[in-house]
Amino acid sequence: MPAAGLLDDLAGIVGGAHVLTDPAITAGYLTDWTGRWTGDALAVVRPGNTAEVAGVVRRCAESGVAICPQGGNTGLVGGSVPPVGMPAVVLSTARLDWIDDVDVPGRAVGAGAGVPLARLERRVHAAGLAFGVDLAARDSATVGGMVATNAGGIHVVRYGSMRAQVLGIEAVLASGEVLRRWRPLRKDNVGYDLPGLLTGSEGTLAVITGVLVRLVPQLRRTASAIAAVDHPAAALRVLTAIEEAGLVVCAAELMIRRGMDLLAEHGHRRPFADPPPYLLLVTVEAAGADLAAALEAAGVADAVLEEGSAAQLWAVREAHTEIIARASTTPVVKLDVSVPLPALGDLIDAVDPLAAEFGARHIPFGHLADGNLHVNLLDVDPARADELTDRVLRAVAGLGGSISAEHGVGRAKVPWLDLSRSLADLAAMRAVKSALDPRGTLNPGVLGMASVTPPGRGL
Ligand code: FAD
Ligand code: MLT
Ligand code: ZN
Repeated sequence: MPAAGLLDDLAGIVGGAHVLTDPAITAGYLTDWTGRWTGDALAVVRPGNTAEVAGVVRRCAESGVAICPQGGNTGLVGGSVPPVGMPAVVLSTARLDWIDDVDVPGRAVGAGAGVPLARLERRVHAAGLAFGVDLAARDSATVGGMVATNAGGIHVVRYGSMRAQVLGIEAVLASGEVLRRWRPLRKDNVGYDLPGLLTGSEGTLAVITGVLVRLVPQLRRTASAIAAVDHPAAALRVLTAIEEAGLVVCAAELMIRRGMDLLAEHGHRRPFADPPPYLLLVTVEAAGADLAAALEAAGVADAVLEEGSAAQLWAVREAHTEIIARASTTPVVKLDVSVPLPALGDLIDAVDPLAAEFGARHIPFGHLADGNLHVNLLDVDPARADELTDRVLRAVAGLGGSISAEHGVGRAKVPWLDLSRSLADLAAMRAVKSALDPRGTLNPGVLGMASVTPPGRGL
């Protein structure tokens, strides 16, 4: 049993107050946001700086104890909680909460991995700039977790996903060594893109301790509208018309009547008294009158328009995740997938009958411009969740799509990796893993990567 001496040593590294073992306190770190995944841990450890992270990583590796890095625990694929049945600790980044002065001329800022997105946004905004990634979990999701998952969110159409924002990274490797690339250069072509490799690695290659991100100008004038459309293809046509009118699209989201009905049951106001089959939420950097003209030219018969932050329109979209979780009688089967843009309607048509066959409700929504649909299946019998997942993900693959668009693979999608990656691709990923983490200490099981090898044994 590695626990006794290990926990004392960890307390020596981070301070006794930051090695949490009381089940009433650790419980919140051991179950993920969806409630589908719960793990075991000897302790939750909260290092306060990079040297302490390195100390924790080294000490756990010596004992063959797995490490599950955790930020805000808002991940939706079970990667943020430790495995069951093996000695592990949760390494919480909550205390890595520093933010550097904003480099205004260099359009960059460095932040500790544990800084929540909303805090970063506020700091950057006060300096007259903006950060290119935004998502509804902004109050809890951390910068480090967003890099580890290569988070997407609502502005990918304009600025790209998290990987496109990363200029530099600081991370503790499985060996305990600190890797630091930290220069606000837009171009730096010296060898392998290690920050890019760690982005999306889901805690399996290193513990990210800090990130240097690029910043963008603040949007000066925006307008948003929810437009009534009868099909995803029609939503795409409207989007194209808006772009052809010369307006810069900052976000383009798809919602469905069933989602509106559910939100209304939970007290939200409907944007339309008589909800259309589909709804397109679009934000442009332009005046409201220009957006109205573009929508009219695109043949949109009914739309609700708001200038500025359009908080009311966005509240409708952002409420989906929470209301869906609350409304389901069993943990929601959430499948974040992408397909080629013209296949979005086909995907919904393919999933609807599967949901009916399994007695589930299907409430899809997502990032239209990215071909990224969030397939939410409510009331699924947990004993049949994998079977339904299998059927949906095979339909996605059949349409030429990806089993994960932005949430990652975590533990939830491991059995279906081969639907999106070839054997050679998977072998190359495993080779990277065994080069950087030969004993498999970091987040074993996530992304299908092997478990911890006890010290003294071969790989
Ligand atoms: P966690 O959940 O703590 O961890 C996620 C993964 O990253 C785990 O594998 C963990 O081990 C690893 N990890 C965390 N921190 C580190 C670190 N410092 N070093 C190494 N590995 C680490 N996601 C999107 O992409 N787009 C969205 O629009 C979006 N909207 C959301 C809305 C809601 C309401 C919710 C609940 C979630 C949403 N998500 C979205 C999912 C989630 O917010 C993102 O995946 C986010 O990036 C996770 O950040 P986190 O700090 O909570 O990470
Ligand atoms: C979103 O776009 O709101 C998220 O990715 C969360 C979800 O899929 O529920
Ligand atoms: Zn999303």
